[in-house]
Amino acid sequence: MDRLNIGLIGYGVVGQGVVKAIKSRRKFLREKYETDFFIKTIADRSIAKKTPPGLENTLLTTDVNLILNDPDIHVVVELIGGLSPAKEIVLGALRAHKHVVTANKALIAECGLELFKEADANGCSILFESSVGAGIPIIRTITEGMAGNKFNGVYGIINGTCNYILTAMSKNKLTFAQALKEAQEKGYAESNPTLDISGMDAAYKLAILVFITMGKFVNVKDIYVEGINHISHDDIEFAQSLNLSICLLAIAKKIGNKLDVRVHPTMIPNEHGLATVNGVDNAIFLDSDPLGDVYIEGHGAGQMTAAMGVVADLINLGIRVDAPACIWAFNPADEVENLSLRKIEEVETRFYIRFMVIDKPGVLASITTVLGQHNISIASVSQKQENKGLTVPVVILTHQANEDQVKKALEEIAGLAVVKGKPVAIRMEKL
Ligand code: HSE
Repeated sequence: MDRLNIGLIGYGVVGQGVVKAIKSRRKFLREKYETDFFIKTIADRSIAKKTPPGLENTLLTTDVNLILNDPDIHVVVELIGGLSPAKEIVLGALRAHKHVVTANKALIAECGLELFKEADANGCSILFESSVGAGIPIIRTITEGMAGNKFNGVYGIINGTCNYILTAMSKNKLTFAQALKEAQEKGYAESNPTLDISGMDAAYKLAILVFITMGKFVNVKDIYVEGINHISHDDIEFAQSLNLSICLLAIAKKIGNKLDVRVHPTMIPNEHGLATVNGVDNAIFLDSDPLGDVYIEGHGAGQMTAAMGVVADLINLGIRVDAPACIWAFNPADEVENLSLRKIEEVETRFYIRFMVIDKPGVLASITTVLGQHNISIASVSQKQENKGLTVPVVILTHQANEDQVKKALEEIAGLAVVKGKPVAIRMEKL
C-alpha cells in the first residue's frame, strides 16, 4: 500500500471541495488504487483555529513553509489563485522535488513555460486539469487521449459564469445583474467577477488550451478580449428572432502560419451544438489531425466540479508518482516557430450591429452611407419598434466585413447627432 501525502495550500471554496471529496472517497480510493490519499497539512492565511470534523490528523497552519519544508509531503495542491505568492509557492514546491497540482489558470497561462521547465528539471509533474473547464477532463483529453495528433484549432464556451448569465437572460428573462448575482451565489464566479464578465478568465483558459494543443505560448495581453457586459435584452431578442444565440466564445484557429486567438460574444446559429450549451456548462471543440473534430461538454464551474479535476490529478499522481506526466502535445516545432498571431484588425466576419437612434426619416440613410464608405456590405436592416422622435433600436446585419473597417465606421456613426450611445457590434462566426 502506497501513501500520497498531500499539502493543500488555499482552503477556500475549491480547497474545501477537495477535502470533502477525498474524505468521502478515501476508503474507495485506497481499495481501488492501493494508495492512501492523505491530506497531511492545510495552509491558509485565515485557517480556522478550530479543527473541522474529520481533519483531526491534518495539521492546519497559516505557514506554507510547513508544507514546502516537509520532506514527507509528496504533492502540493495550490488553490490560492493569482500570480503572487502562488508562483513562488509552486516554484518552491518543485525545487523541493514535490509534484504540484493547481487550478490556477492565470499562473499556468502567464508562467506555464517557466514552471514546466522547473518541473522537468526537478523530475516532477505539474498537473492543472481544473484550470480549464473545472473537472471536465479537457487537459487530459488533449495531452493524453489525443497525444500524437496535430491541432488546427480549439474553440468553445469556457467561462461558466458568462454562459450562465447569457442563458438566464435569454431563457429566464433575468437582468444581467440578477443573473450575475445567481452565478455568484452558486459559487461559479471568480471572487472578482470582473475577470469572468470581462472575458479575461476565458482568455487565460484559451492561452492554456493553445499552449497544450499547438505548442504556442501566447501572451494573454496579445489575445483580443471582449466581455459580455454590453449585451442587452434587445440583442438577445433580436438574436432569437433570427434563430441565433449569443455565446461568449473563445476561439483559436490556425490559418496557414497565422494564429487567430480571440475571446468575444458571438452569434451562432441555433442548430450549432454550442447554442444548446446552457447554464454553467462549458463546451469545447478540438479540430485535430488525423482524429478530426472532438467535442467535450460538462459543468465548467462550481465547487465540486473544480474539486474533482484536482482529485483526478491527485489520483493520476498517486498511481504513477515516480513517472512525471508528459503535458506537451506540441505541433511540430518548425510549425510552432513560424506561427504568428493574426491581428484583430485583419479578421473578417459577419456582424450584427445595434444602433440606438432617433426614430425619424433619413436616419438609416445616414448610417448606411457611412457603412458603404467603409466598404461594408449590408445583408439586412431591421427596426421593430416605432417611436416617433424618440430613441429606438435599429439592427443591421452585414456580410463578411473587415474588423478595422467596421471599427472605423462605428466610430464615425457614433458621432452622428441622431445616434445615441455606442453602437453594439457582435460577430457572427462561421464555425
Ligand atoms: N469562474 C470560472 C467560470 C470558473 O465561471 O467559468 C473557474 O474557472
